[in-house]
Amino acid sequence: MRKRFLAPFVLSAVFFAACGGGQNNSEQQADAGEGTAVDSSMVAPGANAPVPKGKALIDDQDCKTCHKPDTKLVGPGYKEIAQKYPNNEETISMLADKIIKGGAGNWGEVAMLPHPSVPREDAEEMVKYIMSLK
Ligand code: HEC
Repeated sequence: MRKRFLAPFVLSAVFFAACGGGQNNSEQQADAGEGTAVDSSMVAPGANAPVPKGKALIDDQDCKTCHKPDTKLVGPGYKEIAQKYPNNEETISMLADKIIKGGAGNWGEVAMLPHPSVPREDAEEMVKYIMSLK
């Protein structure tokens, strides 16, 4: 007799809790989502577009004494380079080699200095960044 009386009560309490809990969760998630969106747009203009690794690596090197993104300096502009080659593994590997070993004859008489101290992975990151400027 006692059990029969309690069972529906317990069940409905569980049901109620589960249902209420579910609603709370989804509300919290919605809040969190909005909060994040507002936060990242308000932190800094660049927050949504962090500096690419390859750009940071290039900035650390002497590249900018001879290269600019848009215009020819001593060497070709990065955009020109990006437009000259297809963006694929072969190009990345070939240009990473040039960065490390130096190169000449593709753009004019002036040669590019070798950068033997640049690790291969870093050189590839630099090329990926250059190719992204197309
Ligand atoms: C002393 C000047 C100088 C510096 C420093 C320099 N470059 Fe160059 N770079 C050149 C010249 C000149 C060329 C064109 C070479 C040619 O005609 O093949 C060139 C060509 C390139 C190319 C295209 C190669 C090809 O075969 O098309 C890439 C990519 C490149 N440079 C990246 C870099 C990066 C990355 C750095 C820094 C690590 C760097 N360069 C530093 C002068 C320089």
